[in-house]
Amino acid sequence: EKGGYDTFMEKEIHEQPHAVADTLLGRTNENGDLVLDEMGMSEEELRAIDKMVIVACGTAAYAGMVAKYAIERWARIPVEVELAHEFRYRDPVIDEKTLVVSISQSGETMDTLMAVRHAKELGARTISICNTHGSTIPRESDGVLYTHAGPEIAVASTKAFLAQITASYILGLYLVQVRGGGHDDGVVEVMRELHQVPEKIQTVLDGMDRVKEIARFMADSRAVLFLGRHVGFPVAMEGALKLKELAYIHAEGFAAGELKHGPIALIEPGQPVFIVVPSPDSEHGLHGKVVSNIQEIRARGARTLVIAEEGDEDVVPFADEVIRVPRTPALLAPLLTVVPLQIFALELSTAKGLDVDQPRNLAKSVTVE
Ligand code: M6R
Repeated sequence: EKGGYDTFMEKEIHEQPHAVADTLLGRTNENGDLVLDEMGMSEEELRAIDKMVIVACGTAAYAGMVAKYAIERWARIPVEVELAHEFRYRDPVIDEKTLVVSISQSGETMDTLMAVRHAKELGARTISICNTHGSTIPRESDGVLYTHAGPEIAVASTKAFLAQITASYILGLYLVQVRGGGHDDGVVEVMRELHQVPEKIQTVLDGMDRVKEIARFMADSRAVLFLGRHVGFPVAMEGALKLKELAYIHAEGFAAGELKHGPIALIEPGQPVFIVVPSPDSEHGLHGKVVSNIQEIRARGARTLVIAEEGDEDVVPFADEVIRVPRTPALLAPLLTVVPLQIFALELSTAKGLDVDQPRNLAKSVTVE
């Protein structure tokens, strides 16, 4: 049942090219138009929406953070992302023009379900991005966009995360199709790039030997930091969450721009730091800014583990290790850059002799408050 792998998590990580490809499958007609027939809302209703709020917990919330960058950029609609358990106890300013999008692998997370109910009571329209057919959250939402990752057994979410990000891109592109977009990232063009992602994920998976070695050397680490910017920020948070839950190591994800506002005080000789570097093609000179961050922490003795695009040579002088991912448009990069962090956590947990699929104190689906 583990398909030749030692753990479900390892199997599920290797299923990620399929999780993305299957989630993309069958979304377009012969003209290349997106067809989402379970949205539960007419195109006219979608045009009336003036704000989107994404509610989710844990890894699904990080998928929501990635979605915010892409959907705001493409569809020019304001997107807020909120942890479902915070949202449900607030008095949020939402109405029938608000689209509340929940993201959940299981479709049974109590806090996310309660957030959806809260949104409905306030008159908002609700869509669920979900991996489990017929589960409670999609049943209670106006519409649904199913992710096709297949069953996820390991407590730590991996392939569902990639599928959630993929589905949220599809949702963003659909909004562009229905409402028009603000930039020239065309729907057809982005879809074409997305279809190339599964093969690129496979390339990342095929080149993980060094990452596994690094993980085994680091089995005694006391703390590991993760830095990222833009869509690399939620990837850093997700990398830290994977390490906490699987290897019981203190881990923090930061926005690299925050360094000088506090976290850089944590840097001491030997402190391992993963840095998710934006593509050199990123807007606003973000790439150069992150390269300077690497330089700054290295000068203070950090051990820099750098995830960078193929061909990005600027990082090399400041990197103790460079982990390469194939080139891809900046907004799609999380589908690639998170993979080495998943493998790292898996391998480190295994090196410590821990139960990868069933970490202590955790349940796969949190159906209580
Ligand atoms: O089933 P859901 O997507 O609603 O679950 C949300 C979180 O409980 C889940 O992502 C959790 O954070 C995972 N253990 C992360 O690996």
